[in-house]
Amino acid sequence: MGNSSLSPSIRVISSNEFSDVLVKLRRDYQNQYYAMYSSLWNGIVTDPVLMLVPVDDHMVHRGDGVFEAFKCVNGNLYNVHRHLKRLEYSASQVCIDLPFSLDEILHIVKETIKAGSRRDCLVRLFVSRGPGGFTTDPYECPSSQLYVVITSLTYPPREKYEKGVRAKLSKVPVKPSFFANIKSCNYLPNVLMKKEAVDSGVDFVICQDENGFLGESTTENFGMVSEENVLKFPRFDRILRGTTVVRASELAEELVKRGLIERIEFSNITLDEAMKAKEMMMFGTTFDVLPIVEFNNTVIGNGKPGKVFKELYRLILKDVSGNAEFLEPVF
Ligand SMILES: Cc1ncc(COP(=O)(O)O)c(C=O)c1O
Repeated sequence: MGNSSLSPSIRVISSNEFSDVLVKLRRDYQNQYYAMYSSLWNGIVTDPVLMLVPVDDHMVHRGDGVFEAFKCVNGNLYNVHRHLKRLEYSASQVCIDLPFSLDEILHIVKETIKAGSRRDCLVRLFVSRGPGGFTTDPYECPSSQLYVVITSLTYPPREKYEKGVRAKLSKVPVKPSFFANIKSCNYLPNVLMKKEAVDSGVDFVICQDENGFLGESTTENFGMVSEENVLKFPRFDRILRGTTVVRASELAEELVKRGLIERIEFSNITLDEAMKAKEMMMFGTTFDVLPIVEFNNTVIGNGKPGKVFKELYRLILKDVSGNAEFLEPVF
C-alpha cells in the first residue's frame, strides 16, 4: 500500500497544547485513581490524567522494575512492613538500588494517601530502573525511580465469600524459581493466566510445574485442607512468597490448638491430592481469603465454603481491623 494510506495531518503537539490534550483523555474509570507520587517530580498529583510515567523508563519498555501492592483499611496500612521487606528483596535480586530508605518510602506512601483523602484505598508502589534510553542496558539509566499510585480498594462481591469461587488448572508455563520469587514488573505469564481465567469463565487459574506440583494463581496464593485435615500450602519454590498466605499460616496455629486442623504444612501438592481436598482456598492482599468450591469443573469438598476457610477469614479480618502489631496508622 505504501505511505499514501497514512493521514498527512497528524499534528505535532507543543508543550503548551499538551495539557488540553490530556484533559480530553479523562475517563470515568479514572475516578478510582486518587493520587500519584513520582520521584521524578518529587511531588504528588491527584488529577488522574497527570498520572504518567515516561516512556523511556525501562520499567515501561522492558518491564525492568519491581512492585508491591498493599491496602489501607480505615486509615491504617495493613502488613506494610512485610510488603516493604519483599520490595527490598525483589529490588536486590534484580540489582535495582531503592531510591529511598524503607522509612522514607513509608513516609511518601502516607503523604500520597493523605493527598488522596481516602481512609480505605489500595497502594501500588513501583520502583523502576528509571528513564535513560530504549535499550535493554540497565546502565543507561542514571537513577532508579519510585512511583506510588493510590486507587480504590475493591473487594469481590459478598457472594464470592458466601458461595465460593471456581478455579481451574492453568496451561501457562510456570516461571523458574528465580523469577517466581521476585515481584517484578515483568508479569506477562500472570497476565496470560488472568486472560485464561476470564476467557474460561472461572475466577482463578492455578499453575502447575513440570513435576506436576500446584503453584499459584495470577496474583494470589493457593492453599487446601487435605483429607487428613492438614492445612497445606505449596512451598515457596516456584511461586511468590505471599504476605497474606504467610500471615494466614501464622494465624492458623490457633486452629491447630483448637483441633480444627491437624497441622500446617508447606509442601509439594499434586493435582490428585488437591482434587481430594476437603477445602481449597485462594489468598491475596485485596480480598484476604476466598473459598474454592469447584476446580476443573469438579466439586471440591461438599461444594460449600468450609469451616477452615470461615475461621481463617474471621481471623484475618480481625487482624486487619485490630492487630496493632500489623497496622501502621496513616492519618
Ligand atoms: C504472583 C503472585 N502470587 C501471589 C501473590 C499474593 O501475595 P500477597 O498475599 O502478598 O498479596 C501476589 C500478589 O500480588 C502475586 O503477584
